[in-house]
Amino acid sequence: MPDGPTETQKRKIEHIEIVLNRDTQYHDKTTMLEYVEVMPAGGAVSVNDVDISTEVVGRGIEAPMFISGMTGGPSATFEINKNIAIGAAKAGIPMGVGSQRAMVENHDLAYTYAVKKLAGDMVLLGNIGASKLLSYSPQVVQEMLDAISADMLAVHTNPGQESVQPEGDIDFRGAYGRVCEVAKSIRQPTMLKEVGNGISKEVAAKFEGKIYGIDVQGAGGTTWIGVETYRSKGSYGKAFWDWGVPTALSVLEVRSVFSGHVWASGGIRSPADVLKSIAIGAEMCGVAKPVLVVQNRGGSDEVYRFIESMKGGLRQEMARLGYSSIKELRTAKVRIGGQLAELARQRGLKLPASAD
Ligand SMILES: Cc1cc2nc3c(=O)[nH]c(=O)nc-3n(C[C@H](O)[C@H](O)[C@H](O)COP(=O)(O)O)c2cc1C
Repeated sequence: MPDGPTETQKRKIEHIEIVLNRDTQYHDKTTMLEYVEVMPAGGAVSVNDVDISTEVVGRGIEAPMFISGMTGGPSATFEINKNIAIGAAKAGIPMGVGSQRAMVENHDLAYTYAVKKLAGDMVLLGNIGASKLLSYSPQVVQEMLDAISADMLAVHTNPGQESVQPEGDIDFRGAYGRVCEVAKSIRQPTMLKEVGNGISKEVAAKFEGKIYGIDVQGAGGTTWIGVETYRSKGSYGKAFWDWGVPTALSVLEVRSVFSGHVWASGGIRSPADVLKSIAIGAEMCGVAKPVLVVQNRGGSDEVYRFIESMKGGLRQEMARLGYSSIKELRTAKVRIGGQLAELARQRGLKLPASAD
């Protein structure tokens, strides 16, 4: 066992400090959800009758939302994951942990991720990098997931981040094929996720029929090229700060070629973002940075309050538009305008049911 924190552990702490204290959001790019307009359903609905519950991997949850994977490894991250887990479990939504690489390197750190047993029953997503899978056997991945009672595996693909990260691994050759192989061998369903640069239809097509789902984690919220820019010495990161496929466009890209489950995350900041994402075909929406911020301010109580306010806002938005369930919202007609419509046309994407 190593004596002090390893490079992986030090990096995880630096990431948290940078996200909490520096500007890490996109500057000139948005999620493009502002170009999505959801048409009213026509019926009159009371906010008290709006049911936002849904399900994921056959398990009932209270809202189509989850906390995106962020951390674990160094001892200080235990408190963060524990508070997020308690808040998320009380609010009835899933959460992800950050990359489990640190616990594969040192099993003594598993407790920083194994927060499910402290929080009560919840859907928990494990996490590992796609390029790491090239050196891990499916058995290592299975054990890593079982050690924290994970219900799903999120595999992150993050070439943008790795290209700026000083110690980044930019050799992704064979990684996508490996993700599909591992997905076949493990018991938990596998989601492919980005970290805020989005997923294009070209990448999504490689996974059709091979994994459970894709969480687009698109551009418009936290930029990991931005986060790594503070840690790297070159100016490359600044030049590519805003690189990535916006979340709304990424959902349309992925849905054009991938028939599995599609989640919309990256820059999800309001109940309206969730409403619009569901209406254009996403099943779930993940939030990362805002949850880290509220956790830092007030622990599990603030995490719980944040999720409950998102849930309350979503119910109100749905009532205003006349939708009484998530199932109904999925059938909503939408109008897609501006640059999002233009990009979707250029890219030859299938659009959701139109508003005429
Ligand atoms: C402090 C922090 C650490 C993160 N670590 C990981 C990680 O280990 N694995 C991963 O897949 N994503 C990681 N992410 C990325 C998030 O899951 C998410 O994709 C990204 O931050 C965009 O979401 P946001 O705009 O809501 O912040 C991390 C995010 C934050 C804020």
